[in-house]
Amino acid sequence: MLARVATFAIDGVDPRQVWVEVDIRSGLPAFTIVGLGDASVRESRDRIRSAILNSGFEFPLTRITANLAPAFLRKVGPGFDAALALGVLAASGQLPAAALTSYAVFGELSLGGELRDSPGALAVAEGARGAGLARLIVPRERAREAGLVQELTIVGVPTLRAAAEVVIGAQPPPPLPASPGSFPRGAEPDLCDVRGHAAPVLALEIAAAGGHNLLLEGAPGTGKTMLARRLPSILPAMTRDEALEVTRLHSVAGIHGDGLVQARPFRAPHHTISSAGLVGGGSPPRPGEATLANHGVLFLDELSEFQRPSLDALRQPLEDGCVTIVRGQRALVFPTRFMLVAATNPCPCGFAGVDDRCRCGEAELRRHRRRLSGPLLDRMDLLVDVQRPAEHELRAPPATSSAQARARVAAARARQRDRLAGSPARANGEMDVRLVQRHVQLEHAAERTLAHAYATGALSARGRHRVLRVARTIADLRRHERVTQEDMLTALGLRQRVGREAALAA
Ligand SMILES: Nc1ncnc2c1ncn2[C@@H]1O[C@H](COP(=O)(O)OP(=O)(O)O)[C@@H](O)[C@H]1O
Ligand SMILES: [Mg+2]
Repeated sequence: MLARVATFAIDGVDPRQVWVEVDIRSGLPAFTIVGLGDASVRESRDRIRSAILNSGFEFPLTRITANLAPAFLRKVGPGFDAALALGVLAASGQLPAAALTSYAVFGELSLGGELRDSPGALAVAEGARGAGLARLIVPRERAREAGLVQELTIVGVPTLRAAAEVVIGAQPPPPLPASPGSFPRGAEPDLCDVRGHAAPVLALEIAAAGGHNLLLEGAPGTGKTMLARRLPSILPAMTRDEALEVTRLHSVAGIHGDGLVQARPFRAPHHTISSAGLVGGGSPPRPGEATLANHGVLFLDELSEFQRPSLDALRQPLEDGCVTIVRGQRALVFPTRFMLVAATNPCPCGFAGVDDRCRCGEAELRRHRRRLSGPLLDRMDLLVDVQRPAEHELRAPPATSSAQARARVAAARARQRDRLAGSPARANGEMDVRLVQRHVQLEHAAERTLAHAYATGALSARGRHRVLRVARTIADLRRHERVTQEDMLTALGLRQRVGREAALAA
């Protein structure tokens, strides 16, 4: 007898429908799985046999052939176990095959017949809805995540036996676990911990308001890491679509707890990371940190320690908002719309330009600067010196709390949304040259100030474009229709090192 069960493979970060076909014929006992499965799919034969027997069913002592179709798609991981087991039960007449037609089935089995937590449930649920299936069986731990997809009945069960009983109709689908409520914002680090640092804190707020990339430079212990970690606390909340996308990506990567991800991602990979780890890759291709930071922040601490190939690999993701990984005949696309924040010492020892403790030689300084220059520095909108706060600043009250800054950021974002409606950009940081021309209007004095800065050679043409975008964000924060001279001076001040850097990199 032949049975067919729908399931899904995760291809990069997207679901692809897979049909599990199980055929049972008389013959010597054998269990073969064909259809381009990896090692864990081949090993699933032993898990399925034990799980079926330990769930109180019979394992047919005949010739069993299972096929995973379409055959051209690589099937990776143990997530096909449950579909294969239910297929065997249906093909051997222990389940009515017709009852399975409205179901998609997803999950790994243990030898004892438990359905184990498996990564990628939200992607599978989206695939099941897209394929027009009415019900989806998932491990109980993933029920709430899969339940984020509406118009689909989620059957979150702990065991193969429980899944079979729901399919037969002996048991109703168990209710979805209750949602834990909204995400508590107070849990994250807050800007009120930061003393002094007026310019860096302002830069952080501008970066959040316009979606600008930010470089913090300063001696060790001045609070660069501390500042960067507080950026998520002032970013606007994600829309539901953004949250669903982040949940899907984190779920596929297996780094996701339960339900909907509500906090914007903050990814801070160690500087030893490879380029595949940073932008995605491997076989089968997996998303990298740039994709896990999608809709959030990618923080590169100690930027000059990263290997140059890893940093170069960030070029396309930064430019296009996505990264394309080519494997054989196929290309996978991973989303990478993140804000880049980087921190670095001014020199290898950290004290150049700060005090006379610096012992770095000219060659070391040059090497350090060369590592920083190039593709990443070109893409930084804000370049901020972080200096050691004065003693009285450490005792003074903080400049702002995260809640106050967040309110200003949200208002500035609303202004940008209205202005940019109908264009592909959502924030000033995403405006291209044409959008900048159309939307960034300067008062005369601001125009003169910018022209002067450009004429003195302190700005490159690209730097000028970036200053205009940042100036627009500053004007949005201050509720100015046109960019004033003061806005322009603030923007130029937050890019003060460009001219020097450009000269050094040449
Ligand atoms: N401006 C500041 N206000 C309050 N605490 C600070 C400040 N600067 C530094 N600190 C303290 O010093 C610690 C080290 O700062 P850190 O962010 O690790 O420095 P960096 O990354 O620049 O080396 C912080 O965790 C914080 O306790
Ligand atoms: Mg640090």
